[in-house]
Amino acid sequence: QELQMNLEQIEKGGYEHFMLKEIYEQPSAIVDTYRGRMLVDKGMVRMAGMDDNIERFVNAKRILIVACGTSWHAGLVAEYIFEDFARVPVEVEYASEFRYRNPIIDENDVVIAISQSGETADTMAAIKLAKSKGAFVFGVCNVVGSSISRETHAGAYTHAGPEIGVASTKAFTTQITVLSLMALKLAKAKGNMSNTDFHYHLQELDLIPGKIKKALEANEHIKEVAKKYMNAANFLYLGRGFNFPVALEGALKLKEISYIHAEGYPAAEMKHGPIALIDENMPVVVIATKKGHYEKVVSNIQEIKSREARIIGIVTEGDTDVRSMSDYVIEVPDTVEAFTPLLTTIPLQLLSYHIAVMLGKNVDQPRNLAKSVTVE
Ligand code: G6P
Repeated sequence: QELQMNLEQIEKGGYEHFMLKEIYEQPSAIVDTYRGRMLVDKGMVRMAGMDDNIERFVNAKRILIVACGTSWHAGLVAEYIFEDFARVPVEVEYASEFRYRNPIIDENDVVIAISQSGETADTMAAIKLAKSKGAFVFGVCNVVGSSISRETHAGAYTHAGPEIGVASTKAFTTQITVLSLMALKLAKAKGNMSNTDFHYHLQELDLIPGKIKKALEANEHIKEVAKKYMNAANFLYLGRGFNFPVALEGALKLKEISYIHAEGYPAAEMKHGPIALIDENMPVVVIATKKGHYEKVVSNIQEIKSREARIIGIVTEGDTDVRSMSDYVIEVPDTVEAFTPLLTTIPLQLLSYHIAVMLGKNVDQPRNLAKSVTVE
Protein backbone atom coordinates (compact mmCIF):
# COMPACT_ATOMS: atom_id res chain seq x y z
CA GLN A 1 0.00 0.00 0.00
CA GLU A 2 2.68 2.43 1.08
CA LEU A 3 4.86 1.44 -1.84
CA GLN A 4 1.95 2.04 -4.19
CA MET A 5 1.44 5.53 -2.78
CA ASN A 6 5.09 6.37 -3.19
CA LEU A 7 5.09 5.15 -6.76
CA GLU A 8 2.13 7.35 -7.55
CA GLN A 9 3.86 10.33 -5.95
CA ILE A 10 6.89 9.70 -8.12
CA GLU A 11 4.76 9.42 -11.24
CA LYS A 12 3.13 12.74 -10.41
CA GLY A 13 6.57 14.33 -10.46
CA GLY A 14 5.91 16.69 -7.56
CA TYR A 15 2.49 17.81 -8.79
CA GLU A 16 -0.56 17.28 -6.63
CA HIS A 17 -2.53 15.66 -9.45
CA PHE A 18 -1.85 14.08 -12.82
CA MET A 19 -4.09 16.65 -14.44
CA LEU A 20 -1.94 19.53 -13.19
CA LYS A 21 1.23 17.73 -14.25
CA GLU A 22 -0.22 17.16 -17.70
CA ILE A 23 -1.32 20.79 -18.02
CA TYR A 24 2.25 21.85 -17.23
CA GLU A 25 3.69 19.29 -19.63
CA GLN A 26 2.06 20.96 -22.62
CA PRO A 27 5.04 23.08 -23.72
CA SER A 28 7.29 20.02 -23.92
CA ALA A 29 4.55 17.74 -25.25
CA ILE A 30 3.98 20.10 -28.18
CA VAL A 31 7.70 20.16 -28.93
CA ASP A 32 7.59 16.34 -28.94
CA THR A 33 4.66 16.51 -31.35
CA TYR A 34 6.38 18.64 -33.95
CA ARG A 35 9.98 17.52 -33.45
CA GLY A 36 11.34 16.00 -36.67
CA ARG A 37 8.17 16.97 -38.52
CA MET A 38 8.27 20.72 -38.60
CA LEU A 39 11.56 21.79 -40.18
CA VAL A 40 11.44 25.53 -39.72
CA ASP A 41 14.81 26.23 -41.35
CA LYS A 42 14.01 24.16 -44.40
CA GLY A 43 10.49 25.51 -44.56
CA MET A 44 9.07 21.99 -44.59
CA VAL A 45 6.58 19.79 -42.83
CA ARG A 46 7.49 16.13 -43.01
CA MET A 47 4.90 13.56 -41.95
CA ALA A 48 5.33 10.10 -43.40
CA GLY A 49 1.65 9.17 -43.14
CA MET A 50 0.71 12.20 -45.22
CA ASP A 51 3.72 12.20 -47.57
CA ASP A 52 2.92 8.63 -48.61
CA ASN A 53 -0.68 9.52 -49.37
CA ILE A 54 -0.48 13.12 -50.43
CA GLU A 55 -2.56 12.57 -53.58
CA ARG A 56 -5.48 11.31 -51.47
CA PHE A 57 -5.35 14.51 -49.47
CA VAL A 58 -4.82 16.86 -52.40
CA ASN A 59 -7.66 15.28 -54.40
CA ALA A 60 -10.06 14.99 -51.49
CA LYS A 61 -13.43 16.59 -52.25
CA ARG A 62 -13.84 17.08 -48.55
CA ILE A 63 -12.42 16.02 -45.24
CA LEU A 64 -14.61 14.36 -42.68
CA ILE A 65 -13.48 14.32 -39.08
CA VAL A 66 -14.87 11.75 -36.65
CA ALA A 67 -14.19 11.74 -32.91
CA CYS A 68 -15.76 11.86 -29.44
CA GLY A 69 -15.46 14.15 -26.42
CA THR A 70 -12.43 16.40 -26.25
CA SER A 71 -11.04 14.87 -29.45
CA TRP A 72 -14.21 16.05 -31.20
CA HIS A 73 -13.46 19.57 -29.99
CA ALA A 74 -9.95 19.30 -31.46
CA GLY A 75 -11.70 18.26 -34.68
CA LEU A 76 -13.81 21.41 -34.60
CA VAL A 77 -10.71 23.58 -34.21
CA ALA A 78 -9.18 21.65 -37.13
CA GLU A 79 -12.23 22.41 -39.27
CA TYR A 80 -11.48 26.12 -38.98
CA ILE A 81 -7.77 25.59 -39.61
CA PHE A 82 -8.11 23.25 -42.62
CA GLU A 83 -10.74 25.41 -44.29
CA ASP A 84 -8.73 28.55 -43.71
CA PHE A 85 -5.32 27.20 -44.74
CA ALA A 86 -6.10 24.48 -47.27
CA ARG A 87 -9.48 25.63 -48.66
CA VAL A 88 -11.04 22.19 -48.44
CA PRO A 89 -14.55 21.69 -47.03
CA VAL A 90 -14.48 19.97 -43.65
CA GLU A 91 -17.26 18.31 -41.70
CA VAL A 92 -16.88 17.27 -38.09
CA GLU A 93 -19.02 14.46 -36.78
CA TYR A 94 -19.60 12.80 -33.47
CA ALA A 95 -18.49 9.25 -34.27
CA SER A 96 -21.60 7.92 -32.51
CA GLU A 97 -23.92 9.92 -34.79
CA PHE A 98 -21.99 9.28 -37.97
CA ARG A 99 -22.01 5.52 -37.61
CA TYR A 100 -25.77 5.25 -37.22
CA ARG A 101 -27.09 7.52 -39.92
CA ASN A 102 -26.27 6.01 -43.29
CA PRO A 103 -23.73 8.73 -44.08
CA ILE A 104 -22.94 9.87 -47.62
CA ILE A 105 -19.32 9.02 -48.08
CA ASP A 106 -17.17 7.60 -50.86
CA GLU A 107 -13.64 7.08 -52.15
CA ASN A 108 -13.15 10.81 -52.77
CA ASP A 109 -13.41 11.54 -49.06
CA VAL A 110 -10.60 11.64 -46.57
CA VAL A 111 -11.67 10.75 -43.05
CA ILE A 112 -9.58 11.86 -40.11
CA ALA A 113 -10.28 9.94 -36.91
CA ILE A 114 -9.03 11.63 -33.75
CA SER A 115 -8.60 9.64 -30.54
CA GLN A 116 -6.28 10.03 -27.59
CA SER A 117 -6.64 6.43 -26.44
CA GLY A 118 -7.11 4.93 -29.87
CA GLU A 119 -9.66 2.61 -28.28
CA THR A 120 -12.96 4.51 -28.34
CA ALA A 121 -15.62 2.08 -29.59
CA ASP A 122 -17.77 4.61 -31.47
CA THR A 123 -14.78 6.11 -33.26
CA MET A 124 -13.58 2.64 -34.19
CA ALA A 125 -17.01 1.74 -35.63
CA ALA A 126 -17.08 5.00 -37.62
CA ILE A 127 -13.68 4.14 -39.11
CA LYS A 128 -14.83 0.68 -40.17
CA LEU A 129 -17.91 2.15 -41.80
CA ALA A 130 -15.88 4.79 -43.68
CA LYS A 131 -13.43 2.14 -44.87
CA SER A 132 -16.26 -0.06 -46.12
CA LYS A 133 -17.41 2.87 -48.31
CA GLY A 134 -13.95 3.25 -49.84
CA ALA A 135 -12.82 6.37 -47.98
CA PHE A 136 -9.20 6.89 -47.02
CA VAL A 137 -8.94 6.94 -43.22
CA PHE A 138 -6.17 8.76 -41.37
CA GLY A 139 -5.73 8.37 -37.61
CA VAL A 140 -4.56 10.98 -35.12
CA CYS A 141 -3.93 8.98 -31.94
CA ASN A 142 -1.82 9.36 -28.86
CA VAL A 143 -1.44 5.78 -27.71
CA VAL A 144 1.11 4.02 -29.92
CA GLY A 145 -0.07 0.69 -31.27
CA SER A 146 -3.67 1.30 -30.16
CA SER A 147 -6.58 -0.36 -32.00
CA ILE A 148 -7.49 2.77 -33.99
CA SER A 149 -3.90 3.41 -35.02
CA ARG A 150 -3.84 -0.13 -36.42
CA GLU A 151 -7.24 0.05 -38.11
CA THR A 152 -6.58 3.26 -40.09
CA HIS A 153 -4.80 3.39 -43.49
CA ALA A 154 -2.20 5.83 -42.23
CA GLY A 155 -1.80 8.28 -39.38
CA ALA A 156 0.23 10.58 -37.22
CA TYR A 157 0.78 10.10 -33.51
CA THR A 158 0.49 13.07 -31.21
CA HIS A 159 3.45 11.89 -29.04
CA ALA A 160 2.02 13.63 -25.97
CA GLY A 161 3.20 10.85 -23.66
CA PRO A 162 0.83 9.01 -21.30
CA GLU A 163 -2.20 11.01 -20.24
CA ILE A 164 -3.48 9.68 -16.91
CA GLY A 165 -5.99 12.35 -15.84
CA VAL A 166 -9.41 11.41 -17.19
CA ALA A 167 -10.05 14.99 -18.29
CA SER A 168 -7.98 15.43 -21.42
CA THR A 169 -5.49 18.33 -21.51
CA LYS A 170 -2.19 17.76 -23.29
CA ALA A 171 -3.82 15.30 -25.68
CA PHE A 172 -6.09 18.14 -26.86
CA THR A 173 -3.35 20.68 -27.55
CA THR A 174 -1.10 18.10 -29.22
CA GLN A 175 -3.99 16.98 -31.41
CA ILE A 176 -4.44 20.58 -32.52
CA THR A 177 -0.70 20.75 -33.19
CA VAL A 178 -0.70 17.66 -35.43
CA LEU A 179 -3.81 18.84 -37.24
CA SER A 180 -2.25 22.29 -37.76
CA LEU A 181 0.84 20.69 -39.30
CA MET A 182 -1.40 18.60 -41.54
CA ALA A 183 -3.39 21.65 -42.64
CA LEU A 184 -0.19 23.59 -43.37
CA LYS A 185 1.23 20.69 -45.34
CA LEU A 186 -1.95 20.32 -47.36
CA ALA A 187 -2.16 24.07 -47.97
CA LYS A 188 1.35 23.98 -49.36
CA ALA A 189 0.76 20.88 -51.49
CA LYS A 190 -2.37 22.47 -52.94
CA GLY A 191 -0.71 25.83 -53.49
CA ASN A 192 -3.19 27.61 -51.25
CA MET A 193 -0.60 29.34 -49.12
CA SER A 194 2.33 31.47 -50.24
CA ASN A 195 5.81 30.36 -49.17
CA THR A 196 6.15 33.47 -47.05
CA ASP A 197 2.91 32.73 -45.24
CA PHE A 198 3.83 29.09 -44.81
CA HIS A 199 7.20 30.01 -43.26
CA TYR A 200 5.59 32.57 -41.06
CA HIS A 201 3.16 30.01 -39.68
CA LEU A 202 5.93 27.49 -39.00
CA GLN A 203 7.82 30.14 -37.08
CA GLU A 204 4.72 31.05 -35.11
CA LEU A 205 3.98 27.42 -34.26
CA ASP A 206 7.56 27.06 -33.07
CA LEU A 207 6.95 29.92 -30.60
CA ILE A 208 3.82 28.32 -29.12
CA PRO A 209 5.52 26.18 -26.42
CA GLY A 210 7.25 29.25 -24.99
CA LYS A 211 3.98 31.18 -25.09
CA ILE A 212 2.16 28.38 -23.27
CA LYS A 213 4.82 28.64 -20.55
CA LYS A 214 3.99 32.32 -20.35
CA ALA A 215 0.25 31.58 -20.17
CA LEU A 216 0.89 29.13 -17.32
CA GLU A 217 2.37 31.98 -15.29
CA ALA A 218 -1.18 33.20 -14.71
CA ASN A 219 -1.77 30.19 -12.46
CA GLU A 220 -1.88 32.08 -9.15
CA HIS A 221 -4.20 34.69 -10.57
CA ILE A 222 -6.46 31.97 -11.97
CA LYS A 223 -6.61 30.44 -8.48
CA GLU A 224 -8.10 33.72 -7.25
CA VAL A 225 -10.70 33.65 -10.01
CA ALA A 226 -11.51 30.05 -9.14
CA LYS A 227 -11.98 30.96 -5.48
CA LYS A 228 -14.31 33.76 -6.39
CA TYR A 229 -16.64 31.65 -8.57
CA MET A 230 -16.27 28.11 -7.22
CA ASN A 231 -19.76 28.18 -5.75
CA ALA A 232 -21.58 29.21 -8.90
CA ALA A 233 -24.24 26.77 -10.05
CA ASN A 234 -23.75 27.46 -13.76
CA PHE A 235 -21.08 28.83 -16.06
CA LEU A 236 -21.22 30.06 -19.63
CA TYR A 237 -18.26 29.95 -21.99
CA LEU A 238 -18.29 32.11 -25.11
CA GLY A 239 -16.00 32.32 -28.09
CA ARG A 240 -16.14 32.96 -31.82
CA GLY A 241 -14.35 31.55 -34.84
CA PHE A 242 -11.33 29.42 -33.97
CA ASN A 243 -12.16 29.95 -30.31
CA PHE A 244 -15.76 28.76 -30.41
CA PRO A 245 -14.60 25.13 -29.99
CA VAL A 246 -12.34 26.29 -27.15
CA ALA A 247 -15.44 27.61 -25.38
CA LEU A 248 -17.05 24.18 -25.76
CA GLU A 249 -13.92 22.49 -24.43
CA GLY A 250 -13.67 24.92 -21.49
CA ALA A 251 -17.24 24.11 -20.51
CA LEU A 252 -16.65 20.37 -20.87
CA LYS A 253 -13.55 20.53 -18.64
CA LEU A 254 -15.51 22.29 -15.91
CA LYS A 255 -18.42 19.84 -16.09
CA GLU A 256 -16.18 16.79 -16.08
CA ILE A 257 -14.18 17.53 -12.97
CA SER A 258 -16.14 20.04 -10.86
CA TYR A 259 -19.68 18.80 -11.69
CA ILE A 260 -20.76 22.41 -12.19
CA HIS A 261 -23.15 22.81 -15.08
CA ALA A 262 -21.50 24.71 -17.90
CA GLU A 263 -22.32 25.47 -21.49
CA GLY A 264 -20.18 26.64 -24.35
CA TYR A 265 -21.72 28.86 -26.98
CA PRO A 266 -20.70 30.86 -30.03
CA ALA A 267 -20.81 34.39 -28.59
CA ALA A 268 -23.18 35.73 -31.23
CA GLU A 269 -25.77 33.01 -30.55
CA MET A 270 -26.30 34.32 -27.01
CA LYS A 271 -29.07 36.61 -28.15
CA HIS A 272 -31.01 33.65 -29.54
CA GLY A 273 -31.67 32.08 -26.16
CA PRO A 274 -28.97 31.71 -23.54
CA ILE A 275 -28.94 35.42 -22.73
CA ALA A 276 -32.21 34.73 -20.90
CA LEU A 277 -30.21 32.77 -18.33
CA ILE A 278 -27.97 35.67 -17.42
CA ASP A 279 -28.11 37.41 -14.08
CA GLU A 280 -25.61 38.58 -11.48
CA ASN A 281 -24.96 34.99 -10.39
CA MET A 282 -23.79 33.77 -13.76
CA PRO A 283 -20.05 33.81 -14.45
CA VAL A 284 -19.43 34.13 -18.17
CA VAL A 285 -16.01 33.23 -19.50
CA VAL A 286 -15.42 35.08 -22.75
CA ILE A 287 -12.53 34.34 -25.06
CA ALA A 288 -11.72 37.74 -26.53
CA THR A 289 -8.24 37.65 -28.00
CA LYS A 290 -7.24 40.58 -30.18
CA LYS A 291 -7.75 38.78 -33.46
CA GLY A 292 -10.44 38.12 -36.03
CA HIS A 293 -13.71 38.90 -34.38
CA TYR A 294 -12.40 41.01 -31.53
CA GLU A 295 -14.77 43.98 -32.02
CA LYS A 296 -17.72 41.63 -32.39
CA VAL A 297 -16.83 39.83 -29.19
CA VAL A 298 -16.47 43.17 -27.42
CA SER A 299 -20.01 44.07 -28.42
CA ASN A 300 -21.20 40.64 -27.27
CA ILE A 301 -19.58 41.38 -23.90
CA GLN A 302 -21.44 44.69 -23.75
CA GLU A 303 -24.75 42.85 -24.30
CA ILE A 304 -24.17 40.49 -21.41
CA LYS A 305 -22.59 43.13 -19.21
CA SER A 306 -25.81 45.12 -19.32
CA ARG A 307 -27.55 42.02 -17.88
CA GLU A 308 -25.25 42.10 -14.86
CA ALA A 309 -23.29 38.96 -15.68
CA ARG A 310 -19.90 38.41 -14.06
CA ILE A 311 -17.33 38.51 -16.83
CA ILE A 312 -14.04 36.65 -16.97
CA GLY A 313 -12.20 37.72 -20.11
CA ILE A 314 -9.48 35.64 -21.74
CA VAL A 315 -7.52 38.35 -23.50
CA THR A 316 -4.34 39.13 -25.39
CA GLU A 317 -1.52 40.58 -23.28
CA GLY A 318 -1.90 44.31 -22.85
CA ASP A 319 -5.62 44.41 -23.70
CA THR A 320 -7.46 47.35 -22.18
CA ASP A 321 -10.95 47.34 -23.79
CA VAL A 322 -12.13 43.99 -22.45
CA ARG A 323 -10.35 44.63 -19.15
CA SER A 324 -12.47 47.72 -18.58
CA MET A 325 -15.65 45.65 -18.98
CA SER A 326 -14.60 42.52 -17.09
CA ASP A 327 -14.59 41.46 -13.46
CA TYR A 328 -11.39 39.52 -14.13
CA VAL A 329 -9.14 39.15 -17.12
CA ILE A 330 -6.61 36.42 -17.78
CA GLU A 331 -3.93 37.23 -20.33
CA VAL A 332 -2.37 35.01 -22.96
CA PRO A 333 0.43 35.98 -25.37
CA ASP A 334 -0.36 37.08 -28.91
CA THR A 335 -0.10 34.71 -31.87
CA VAL A 336 -1.65 34.18 -35.32
CA GLU A 337 -5.39 33.68 -35.12
CA ALA A 338 -5.36 30.00 -36.11
CA PHE A 339 -3.06 29.11 -33.21
CA THR A 340 -4.87 31.10 -30.50
CA PRO A 341 -6.76 27.96 -29.33
CA LEU A 342 -3.43 26.48 -28.19
CA LEU A 343 -3.07 29.42 -25.80
CA THR A 344 -6.64 30.26 -24.78
CA THR A 345 -7.25 26.64 -23.73
CA ILE A 346 -4.58 26.86 -21.02
CA PRO A 347 -6.33 29.24 -18.58
CA LEU A 348 -9.59 27.32 -19.03
CA GLN A 349 -7.89 24.06 -18.04
CA LEU A 350 -6.38 25.72 -14.96
CA LEU A 351 -9.66 27.37 -13.99
CA SER A 352 -11.54 24.04 -14.02
CA TYR A 353 -8.69 22.35 -12.21
CA HIS A 354 -8.61 24.85 -9.35
CA ILE A 355 -12.38 25.00 -8.98
CA ALA A 356 -12.56 21.19 -8.78
CA VAL A 357 -9.72 21.02 -6.25
CA MET A 358 -11.32 23.75 -4.11
CA LEU A 359 -14.61 21.86 -4.19
CA GLY A 360 -12.79 18.73 -3.01
CA LYS A 361 -13.54 16.68 -6.12
CA ASN A 362 -11.50 13.79 -7.39
CA VAL A 363 -9.81 15.66 -10.21
CA ASP A 364 -7.95 12.77 -11.82
CA GLN A 365 -10.82 10.31 -11.63
CA PRO A 366 -14.14 12.10 -11.82
CA ARG A 367 -17.27 10.14 -11.02
CA ASN A 368 -18.97 8.23 -13.83
CA LEU A 369 -16.22 8.90 -16.36
CA ALA A 370 -13.64 6.61 -17.90
CA LYS A 371 -10.39 7.46 -19.63
CA SER A 372 -11.26 5.34 -22.62
CA VAL A 373 -14.75 4.25 -23.51
CA THR A 374 -14.53 0.87 -25.20
CA VAL A 375 -18.27 0.22 -25.16
CA GLU A 376 -20.78 2.13 -27.24
C1 G6P B 1 -13.77 9.70 -22.82
C2 G6P B 1 -12.77 10.56 -22.05
C3 G6P B 1 -12.62 11.91 -22.72
C4 G6P B 1 -12.24 11.72 -24.17
C5 G6P B 1 -13.23 10.83 -24.92
C6 G6P B 1 -12.71 10.44 -26.27
O1 G6P B 1 -15.04 10.21 -22.65
O2 G6P B 1 -13.18 10.71 -20.71
O3 G6P B 1 -11.61 12.67 -22.07
O4 G6P B 1 -12.16 12.98 -24.81
O5 G6P B 1 -13.44 9.62 -24.20
O6 G6P B 1 -11.58 9.63 -26.08
P1 G6P B 1 -10.48 9.38 -27.14
O7 G6P B 1 -9.49 8.46 -26.44
O8 G6P B 1 -11.13 8.70 -28.32
O9 G6P B 1 -9.87 10.67 -27.51
